[in-house]
Amino acid sequence: MTERTSAEGTASGKVILFGEHAVVYGSPAIAAGLDRGAHARATRLASGPSTLRIGDETVVADGSSSNDLERAFHALLTVAPALPPVHVEARSDLPPGGGLGSSAALSVAITRAAEALARGQEEDAAIEARVLERAAAWERIFHGNPSGIDAMAAARGGIFRFTRAEGARPILPRQDLALCVGSTGQPSSTRETVGLIASQHAKDPVLVQRSIDAVTSIVGNAVLALEAGDQRALGDLMNMNQLVLSGLFVSTSELEELCALARASGALGAKLTGGGGGGCVIALVPPAFQSDGTRDEAREAKSAARILDAWRGAEGR
Ligand code: MEV
Repeated sequence: MTERTSAEGTASGKVILFGEHAVVYGSPAIAAGLDRGAHARATRLASGPSTLRIGDETVVADGSSSNDLERAFHALLTVAPALPPVHVEARSDLPPGGGLGSSAALSVAITRAAEALARGQEEDAAIEARVLERAAAWERIFHGNPSGIDAMAAARGGIFRFTRAEGARPILPRQDLALCVGSTGQPSSTRETVGLIASQHAKDPVLVQRSIDAVTSIVGNAVLALEAGDQRALGDLMNMNQLVLSGLFVSTSELEELCALARASGALGAKLTGGGGGGCVIALVPPAFQSDGTRDEAREAKSAARILDAWRGAEGR
């Protein structure tokens, strides 16, 4: 059997439907994988150090740099068992700093490509068991204290409830959800917003815990609403989650404006998604049905277009 010289890996982006930030403190959150994500190709090198190219940036993982990308790549490769020397070309189809999981998707795609090359015929299950560990090492460089939900979404896709202690549990929504994703165009630094809440928590743990408890009950009700297909309740819960996030100071006037525009244009609910402080909002498009009970896709597309038009109008101002 000839040895493979190159291998590929892919991963999904994500939206956090409910519970970002509270999930860092052990509360549950709900995430959904996106079709868009990241892709990586790893090529075997005869000797080290390993190199990584993303767009115009190439980093060399020799462990000597203070560059975050180099440190993250080095950390990912050196989780035991350390990966042999590779050159990786990686690409994300998600906006960086948009709160859509670009960093986690890159880490999972890179890991999958490098692991597939290193372990040859090893079972996928054995490789996948290490993916989250390597992704966590990468995410710690960029995000300080990641809960692991972004890497989990990148690795598994679908809709799931997640806690740090229990990991992912799939949710089977009774109905498909149609979401619009709008960007403020401002970068979102998860490290900064997670740090901001950590300093509020250090100053007044009781106050922050109240918000976390509120989010825990929002998430519990959101699981029920998803399973019951109650999209009106889901929209209300999104709005409530946004209120709590604003109270934690991770929303911005631009995020608030996009949420308000979406609601005024017919969305059942809207909230920021991911770290906040910039990045994206998600808006729930009202479902529409024909007289025979089947989904009226044309009417739903019109509702989505109204929300997107309102956002485009805001961009033009
Ligand atoms: C970022 O997508 C989600 C946060 O809750 C951070 C984390 O869970 O690691 C803000």
